[in-house]
Amino acid sequence: MQNCLKIAQLTDSNLLTEIHSECFEKGWNLAAIEDYMRQPNCYALLAGNLGFILFQIVVDECEIKTICVMPQERGKGYAKLLCAEAIDVISGLSAKKIFLEVAENNIAALNLYKKLGFEVYGKREKYYANGDAAILLHLIIAI
Ligand SMILES: CC(C)(COP(=O)(O)OP(=O)(O)OC[C@H]1O[C@@H](n2cnc3c(N)ncnc32)[C@H](O)[C@@H]1OP(=O)(O)O)[C@@H](O)C(=O)NCCC(=O)NCCS
Repeated sequence: MQNCLKIAQLTDSNLLTEIHSECFEKGWNLAAIEDYMRQPNCYALLAGNLGFILFQIVVDECEIKTICVMPQERGKGYAKLLCAEAIDVISGLSAKKIFLEVAENNIAALNLYKKLGFEVYGKREKYYANGDAAILLHLIIAI
């Protein structure tokens, strides 16, 4: 399974866009994905054509911007694999902390991150357009 992982390139932007729009009601468009992919501090890891994680390093911190796995491929461990590999890459890039936000009712994502050792450090009420709160999570990977 690990063999299906690769670091995405700008030329993978169409595939990333397709996956993202299958996974989110308001998926990012091609321009948004390409914008991330052109940034030198932004990385995406792809699991075949089934899912990806995209993250951005800022100085010694890393923000996970998104992770998504195609609906029919969920529950098979792809997100766990993507996160584990991303944490390895992020550690290698000398980041000390990984952080992200997730909607409070996104139980699958919350469970995923908690399983990986992420801890809740805050909450932003009415953060999303639909009024949902965001849970703020982080993982300290070096001191
Ligand atoms: C969140 C998401 C990426 C998980 O992907 P996945 O490949 O199905 O996850 P995995 O199979 O690797 O599961 C890893 C852990 O996540 C949790 N999890 C996954 N799906 C779950 C579900 N439906 N309900 C509860 N927990 C779930 C479990 O703790 C699981 O560990 P376990 O299998 O040992 O119990 C996927 O559901 C998704 O793409 N959702 C839509 C996009 C999204 O909301 N992304 C996150 C916000 S940016």
